[in-house]
Amino acid sequence: MPNAATARLAYGGDYNPEQWPEEVWHEDVALMREAGVTLVSLGIFSWARLEPREGEFDFAWLDRVIELLHAAGIGVDLATPTVVPPAWFYRAHPEALPVSREGVRWEFGSRGAICHSSPAYQRAAARITRALGERYGRHPAVEMWHVHNEYGVPVLECYCDTSAADFRRWLRDTYGTLDALNAAWGTAFWGQAYGEWSEIQPPRAAPTTTNPAQRLDFARFASDSALANFRRERDILHELSPGVPVTTNFMVSPTQCDTIDYWAWGREVDIVTNDHYLVAEDDRNHINLSMAADLTRSVGGGKPWLLLEHSTSAVNWQPRGIAKRPGEMARNSLAHVARGSEGAMFFQWRASRAGAEKFHSAMVPHAGTDSRIWREAVDLGAHLGALAGVRGTRTAADVAMVWDWQSWWAQKLEWRPSEDLDTRERAEAFYAALFDRHFTVDFAHPEADLTAHPLAVVPALYLTTARAGENLRRYVEAGGTLVVSYFSGIVDEHDAVHPGPHPGALRDVLGLTVEEFQPLRAGRTVTLDGAAGPLTGDVWAETLRPAGAETVWSYADGPAAGGPAITRHRLGDGTAWYVSCRLGADGLDAVLAAAGADAGLAPRDGLPRDLELVRRDGEGGRYLFAINHADADASFDLPAGTADGAAELLAGAPLTGGRLTVPAGAVRVVRLGG
Ligand code: GAL
Repeated sequence: MPNAATARLAYGGDYNPEQWPEEVWHEDVALMREAGVTLVSLGIFSWARLEPREGEFDFAWLDRVIELLHAAGIGVDLATPTVVPPAWFYRAHPEALPVSREGVRWEFGSRGAICHSSPAYQRAAARITRALGERYGRHPAVEMWHVHNEYGVPVLECYCDTSAADFRRWLRDTYGTLDALNAAWGTAFWGQAYGEWSEIQPPRAAPTTTNPAQRLDFARFASDSALANFRRERDILHELSPGVPVTTNFMVSPTQCDTIDYWAWGREVDIVTNDHYLVAEDDRNHINLSMAADLTRSVGGGKPWLLLEHSTSAVNWQPRGIAKRPGEMARNSLAHVARGSEGAMFFQWRASRAGAEKFHSAMVPHAGTDSRIWREAVDLGAHLGALAGVRGTRTAADVAMVWDWQSWWAQKLEWRPSEDLDTRERAEAFYAALFDRHFTVDFAHPEADLTAHPLAVVPALYLTTARAGENLRRYVEAGGTLVVSYFSGIVDEHDAVHPGPHPGALRDVLGLTVEEFQPLRAGRTVTLDGAAGPLTGDVWAETLRPAGAETVWSYADGPAAGGPAITRHRLGDGTAWYVSCRLGADGLDAVLAAAGADAGLAPRDGLPRDLELVRRDGEGGRYLFAINHADADASFDLPAGTADGAAELLAGAPLTGGRLTVPAGAVRVVRLGG
């Protein structure tokens, strides 16, 4: 954990001093102290500067930067710069540039152009990592190692011949025999059987759709091959820098990276760190932020994590660089902290004058320190200083949401029953519905134990292994309440349909079968009738056959008219709900209200819609974060029995009668008493 010695929340950002003359470094450090910066990420893009020619190192400048920071009491999250091999490397090893599915070899001149299977890249990355570890591994300023940068973006998969050979090795390790591979990939279809390993290629561009099991395995291979490179660097740093945590910055938001299986990666880092950028156009983009933060915490098993990058204001790579409103940066930062982050870091410290990201906001903007952004950055540093006590506490969640990157990859492949099926969209819709009910979400892998949560939702799980199906059934039998949405439980890990009627892996737990999918024409809707009132669905419907489940809403019209639409199955001590069409916010709210009642979750009615309330509890105390995203003040009662001795930490706000008012756009954090 960074800052272990000083017990501070981390505050700072990516620091790129090589873009500035040395006199600016002194001003930087003085300003960092003014803002309360505790940690900076250093050297992420510095390979060409650190190793200007192969095997020739220049550390003098970095020595000086680290000494300056250290003297000012600022910690360093030191990067291995392996996301940007220098120009000399590519001239010597053009084969290390990645090749697209269509056979285009990407050129040098941007960043992240890496074939993860390239032995030359692996050797060069290990050499610079070792050199950095030897020089700085025991330096007292180095509080954390930052390996690479955002594995998975901008490109992960490489289709070159070296990758092809590596893919074949991965397949041999996975399947052992060609017979097993042919069976798993269903190569009897379209005459694709392989008689020799050497016949197998990556799923390069082909005349029509490629074998989906081959594509799914290639996606797994790509995530694994980058992970092997992370592990190599991590192990070198563990050897040379004992006790210093090693991380790599994730981008868990499905809006931002779709190539990495973060469930697997979360187990490999010493501390999970994440980068998150708002979807600027979205008026309620704080919900996507919360979802990313909850997912980040979950891939780390619920332990505290660290937000390593977000923006003080505009980003430069979205269609419009929309500036954050006053107070929004603090709301964003503190929402991450509420959901488990041990601080708030930014890209970047000082806005660049040149290069691709000069219009990206920074802690020190082009406008300088006489600016709103700078003043808010200074205020945020003070706020984080006041919240040091939350370190080590854990976010308390109410509901589990099942999420699986591999299922998402499989569902996104071509030739599904409707192009309107969208795993990410469903996950975001369910998440928003839970957010609006003021429930905090823990994400879970489909095979993980869910029993800590009374309610578990499965927004879209097209690929459901037999083990996952059993896991969900056991969860319900043991008393859990499960809500499953359509097109889940359909295929196994090889994208083969489970035997028997759909949804093969979930028939038992749901107490029904799907006789026929009924995707709707574009723009069409269906009406659902039920005792709790009518609902509207779109995109999808199904002809269902209950086998134990009761019908709670039925189709009033559309292709499945007269049949069940939303069902409820009592099984063992629990209940499993099934939703067979795409519901909007109102429909999801109605189903979650009913399922929440089954789960015994007390409704949090009467709270303002965009008042975000999140708890962190632990030995350091119990903290309630109240973030008001609305334009009007919001008031609420503190939880029963917590008002005595409670104190508000950011503004010293009064807790009159156990009630707190959060002004429009503001954040309050209460250390609960009682
Ligand atoms: C991140 C990346 C940073 C910077 C930032 C802002 O994805 O790690 O280096 O590019 O986005 O665009």
